[in-house]
Amino acid sequence: MDEKKVMLSGIQPSGDLHLGNYLGAIKNWVDRTDEFDNYYFMADMHTITVRQNPADLRRRTLEQLAQYIACGLDPDKNTLFIQSHVHQHAELGWVLQCYTMFGELSRMTQFKDKSAKHKENINGGLFTYPSLMAADILLYQPDFVPVGEDQKQHCELTRDIAQRFNSIYGDVFKIPEPYIPKAGARVMGLTAPDSKMSKSMPEGCVFLMEKPEDIQRKFKRAITDSDTENCVRYDPAAKPGVANLMSIYSAVTGKSYETIEQEFGGCGYGKFKPAVGDAVVECLRPIREEATRILADKAYLESVYKAGAEKASYVANKTLRKVYKKIGFVAR
Ligand code: TRP
Repeated sequence: MDEKKVMLSGIQPSGDLHLGNYLGAIKNWVDRTDEFDNYYFMADMHTITVRQNPADLRRRTLEQLAQYIACGLDPDKNTLFIQSHVHQHAELGWVLQCYTMFGELSRMTQFKDKSAKHKENINGGLFTYPSLMAADILLYQPDFVPVGEDQKQHCELTRDIAQRFNSIYGDVFKIPEPYIPKAGARVMGLTAPDSKMSKSMPEGCVFLMEKPEDIQRKFKRAITDSDTENCVRYDPAAKPGVANLMSIYSAVTGKSYETIEQEFGGCGYGKFKPAVGDAVVECLRPIREEATRILADKAYLESVYKAGAEKASYVANKTLRKVYKKIGFVAR
């Protein structure tokens, strides 16, 4: 029997999960559950490069896990874990910092953006974050790393670090491929369709746990385009706001752009926007209900993250032991 290919990804619990995380990432993970051997984690160690409120971080990490499961990630078929529970991440992260160049880290656009945004706290972790991300990935020897466009540069760097290490010590790391989801899965902000949906623009962002009336309000106020046409037609260059709503509607209903144009083309944006809102509310309702139920069952959640950490540690430890041996650390 062929071994399944390995897939790994993570999301930082620095904010509540939103529709962009679901349609752009988690839903695709769910769809590929059976095809791959899957590792998905809450990247809590990454969040502290920016100051976090401890109680909020703890709460959001558990909520994220409950929401992963509620979205359909079956813990029996996916290894779901909390990054800080697997100490090998920190250990390999340190090693890989020593194989990552200052110049490489200086060129990371996310570092430049975040250090411009948090001038009062440009800490060492913010700078070396990509080495930890490389460790997150390389520990599991994955074939594919599904990430958004914004993480592509970090994935490229991970490949460079792995290749550098392998060229010195032999084949230790598998070189992973980034796995950028197909067009249509990229959800843009409802108030700013030129940038991706983000918690930093809350009025343009629909959270998975949000109340239906709030979701409806956000869709009713979504920016459509200032053209005079007032017609639902898929043209991302000329009509980015409408195209974004169409892609959301298509993702949650399964309808093609053609069908949507036929359904709403003649009736303008006034009918279309609340219809998208309704469809999203119905799509999120079972997720919200299930996540609420799971979150109340602390013993179950604990059993999931404990089993996940145990399985992840086993795999991570194999890689770490090999690395330690290659670089000359005395075996314990
Ligand atoms: N850096 C990613 C983000 O900010 C999260 C992340 C951390 C990640 N480690 C990872 C994603 C490993 C994929 C693989 O979105």
